[in-house]
Amino acid sequence: MKVKVSRKAHFNAAHRLFRKDWSNQKNEEIFGKCNNPNFHGHNYELIVSVIGEIDEETGYVIDMKILKDIIKEEVEDAFDHKNLNLEVPEFKTLNPTAENIVVVIYNKIKPKLDPKLELEITLYETPRNFVTFSG
Ligand code: NI
Repeated sequence: MKVKVSRKAHFNAAHRLFRKDWSNQKNEEIFGKCNNPNFHGHNYELIVSVIGEIDEETGYVIDMKILKDIIKEEVEDAFDHKNLNLEVPEFKTLNPTAENIVVVIYNKIKPKLDPKLELEITLYETPRNFVTFSG
């Protein structure tokens, strides 16, 4: 019997979507306002879900305090109030789209969990636009 437990978190960050190997015109066509050379910000909302068996002794799938600390260390401390393109090494050469950010977050959190646990990350870039990755 598997149960999914979730914790919400958020971070504010700036980004710019563009490819160095494309012309300004092509970047403008594909990425529009998100290609603003002066960057722009989002209030990212995150749902981190862990799926696994309930531990017989504790009654937990995962201790939420532990999950909270992992999210703080791997996501909030790394991304909050940062310029993703300039200050976060994972995006030096990777376009910081919501799709790429959610995969980066998954890959940072997954190794910190017991391998028996499954992980699912949902990232809201705006209240209406969100992406989900579960490996
Ligand atoms: Ni954007």
